[in-house]
Amino acid sequence: MYTLSMKKAISIQYIIMLLAISVSHIVAYGSSEEVLALLNWKVSLQHENNNSVLASWTSGFPNKETHSYNKTMSTISPCNWYGVSCNSDGSINRLNLSSSSLTGTLNSFSFSSFPNLTHFEISINNFYGIVPPAIGNLSKLVYLDFINNHFSSIIPPQIELLENLEVLHFSINQLTGSIPHGLCHLKFLYDLDLKHNFLFGGVPFCLGNLTNLGLLQLGPNELGGAIPYELGNLSKLNVLYMPSNNLHGPIPNTLGNLSNLTTLSLFNNNIHGLIPPELGCLSSLDILTLSNNQLTEIQKVLTSIIILAIKCLNANPEMRPTMYDVSQQISGICADCF
Ligand SMILES: *[C@@H]1O[C@H](CO)[C@@H](O)[C@H](O)[C@H]1NC(C)=O
Ligand SMILES: *[C@@H]1O[C@H](CO)[C@@H](O)[C@H](O)[C@H]1NC(C)=O
Ligand SMILES: *[C@@H]1O[C@H](CO)[C@@H](O)[C@H](O)[C@H]1NC(C)=O
Ligand SMILES: *[C@@H]1O[C@H](CO)[C@@H](O)[C@H](O)[C@H]1NC(C)=O
Ligand SMILES: *[C@@H]1O[C@H](CO)[C@@H](O)[C@H](O)[C@H]1NC(C)=O
Ligand SMILES: *[C@@H]1O[C@H](CO)[C@@H](O)[C@H](O)[C@H]1NC(C)=O
Ligand SMILES: *[C@@H]1O[C@H](CO)[C@@H](O)[C@H](O)[C@H]1NC(C)=O
Ligand SMILES: *[C@@H]1O[C@H](CO)[C@@H](O)[C@H](O)[C@H]1NC(C)=O
Ligand SMILES: *[C@@H]1O[C@H](CO)[C@@H](O)[C@H](O)[C@H]1NC(C)=O
Repeated sequence: MYTLSMKKAISIQYIIMLLAISVSHIVAYGSSEEVLALLNWKVSLQHENNNSVLASWTSGFPNKETHSYNKTMSTISPCNWYGVSCNSDGSINRLNLSSSSLTGTLNSFSFSSFPNLTHFEISINNFYGIVPPAIGNLSKLVYLDFINNHFSSIIPPQIELLENLEVLHFSINQLTGSIPHGLCHLKFLYDLDLKHNFLFGGVPFCLGNLTNLGLLQLGPNELGGAIPYELGNLSKLNVLYMPSNNLHGPIPNTLGNLSNLTTLSLFNNNIHGLIPPELGCLSSLDILTLSNNQLTEIQKVLTSIIILAIKCLNANPEMRPTMYDVSQQISGICADCF
């Protein structure tokens, strides 16, 4: 037994030594740190067909056939690996492993090994565990898509370091905690999708500083407090989707400034008070869903008629809503009226 474990220890030492050698050699090449980081992460992943989807992720080393050593070292490029794309210098700039039936975590993903990564997509898989704070190392990241996994941590505050981010998709996970205020520093953010999680706390009013936002989706979640007046500053906003939260208070009249808004969904909250007549100015609005709140039914109907009237006035004759459209919109606004 003793000799057995000795052998084991020696062979592990041998493997570590081989790895060390391979690391020291690989580092000489441009993308080798990226190659090692991917191979290291691959070992931690499970796939329903034995990782066959990641079969292309291989170095062929350690390999007993010595002649392949040089070949391997000089020709490993991850650029043709499944889901991997490179920039013109052969450094990885995109990882897209969406819908790949992968199970695992990001715990052994070496974020700091991918300084050139701009797109990181792992949506529709079975990733679980934490969104690691080291994600803040992906300083060139523009596009982050983790939709439809089982991440169950907080959104790490280090997300604020991703200052080039334009798209942040965390929806359909089990994320908890509050929306980090650091998100408000991501001034290029265009698409923020946090819906279908367990986020609580308030909607940060500083989100009103993200003036490039076109899509803001924050529900279903467990968010409370008021709808910030500052959201009226998001002049490019097309979609404001915050249903099925615990939002209180009135609808801010500043939302009437969102002239490009096409969807305003606030159903299943605790909103009360008057519907601001300023919403009648939202001439681009197609979808307004306010049902299941503390608003009076007659108010909802009146608001929808005012909005439709303005749309009818502004539209070309051939673009005018039909009576069918009108009835559909009114029933969407107030589910229990009729
Ligand atoms: C995974 O690999 C093992 C051994 O190589 C094999 O016995 C098993 O059938 C494989 N499972 C699947 C799902 O391919
Ligand atoms: C590896 O390449 C070097 C020079 O490029 C050469 O001298 C050496 O013989 C090669 N080794 C093997 C095992 O092919
Ligand atoms: C990142 O990309 C730049 C420019 O293409 C390149 O010079 C650099 O070596 C890359 N970094 C790594 C770690 O590959
Ligand atoms: C990523 O992969 C998915 C699935 O193959 C595909 O639908 C999606 O368009 C890809 N994303 C990009 C940016 O190419
Ligand atoms: C980036 O990675 C390094 C180590 O690779 C780590 O020490 C550092 O904390 C990471 N940065 C962030 C923001 O987590
Ligand atoms: C938001 O912008 C205002 C001025 O436009 C500034 O005073 C405030 O500090 C900003 N807040 C954040 C969180 O960036
Ligand atoms: C943002 O909105 C608030 C309240 O609606 C307003 O007082 C403020 O001037 C706006 N800030 C900017 C930078 O537009
Ligand atoms: C609103 O949409 C129109 C048409 O799509 C566009 O021309 C205009 O620039 C948009 N306004 C803002 C503030 O984004
Ligand atoms: C936004 O709306 C408020 C209230 O309706 C109004 O007082 C304010 O002038 C508007 N701001 C802009 C920039 O249009």
